[in-house]
Amino acid sequence: MSFISKALRGVALAAIVAATALPAAAREFRIAVGDGAGGTQEALGLAFIKALEEKTGGAHTGKLFLNGQLGDEQDTVNNAAMGTLDFSILAINNVTPFSPEVGTLTLPYVLLSLEDAEKITQGPIGQQLVDKTVENAGVRIIGWAYSGFRVLSNSKRPVATVADLRGLIVRVPRNEIMIDSYKAWGVNPTPLAWTETFAALQQGVVDGQDNPYMTIYAMKFDEVQKYITNWRYIFSIEPLIVSEQLFASLSPEEQQQILDAGLQATKDSAEFLRTEEAKIKEELVSRGMEITEPADGEQEFIDLATAAVWPKYMDQIGGKDALNAILAELGRPLVE
Ligand code: MLT
Repeated sequence: MSFISKALRGVALAAIVAATALPAAAREFRIAVGDGAGGTQEALGLAFIKALEEKTGGAHTGKLFLNGQLGDEQDTVNNAAMGTLDFSILAINNVTPFSPEVGTLTLPYVLLSLEDAEKITQGPIGQQLVDKTVENAGVRIIGWAYSGFRVLSNSKRPVATVADLRGLIVRVPRNEIMIDSYKAWGVNPTPLAWTETFAALQQGVVDGQDNPYMTIYAMKFDEVQKYITNWRYIFSIEPLIVSEQLFASLSPEEQQQILDAGLQATKDSAEFLRTEEAKIKEELVSRGMEITEPADGEQEFIDLATAAVWPKYMDQIGGKDALNAILAELGRPLVE
């Protein structure tokens, strides 16, 4: 063998050794975010990126695209399923149309606190919902942001009772459970994509909407809304989803790093809500918003919504046993 071919063989061997010793190619994942800066979605995304960089020794990172720059929340589920988007952070109500079982998390008056939300999402029921969503929608939930109760905001008047609510034009997500909750209160709501909501409120196409304080702040809704009703009909959970195609293409080690980073970000998200929500509420009041408590401990809203909506969606969310499993986990009375 000539000196040159020996030398070439040496170079080739060195290249192979170097290639196998190197970590997988560094990646910057694209992460769609439905809301603007300052809310729980951004906080979850930043915590995830930080944890991912730490766990991969800087090999992988991510970039957030806020304010629906990569599409409306429901579209991002399709895009991630098709593999044209890496990750998305969005409200759970915008996952439900693709994975009916997660509807248990948008049934009115099921989750009644942050602790309820943490218990369900981080326990075995949460894992079943993750598995179902991979199967149904082609996306994997790897983290959860906790955003607080979705409160009602509107530009017309204080709302304390069901009677006060009637006559308002209220935007809701394209989510059947939420549409039917309003119908139970005698309101025919207007389903609109999230990306169209600010403009619809600003132009007076709709009078109001519901979302957590953190989201109202991140979306600057205080500029176009005056009244808030501090009701508790849905505790808002906002998952971080990854394209299952992308996830399946990664090595077991990388998959574990992503899952670990998602878990870390979930824990940070709960902490973020605990420390920030009260401050954000005060900030909204200082900007001129008025907060009204629902009359009579919200009982009329609770009775109407649970009586109409729970039975109607029982089969879709996986049957009475699925709802009772959640209620039992939370130490609440079961449905007959
Ligand atoms: C919605 O109302 O469509 C969502 O809750 C928006 C969000 O992600 O904050």
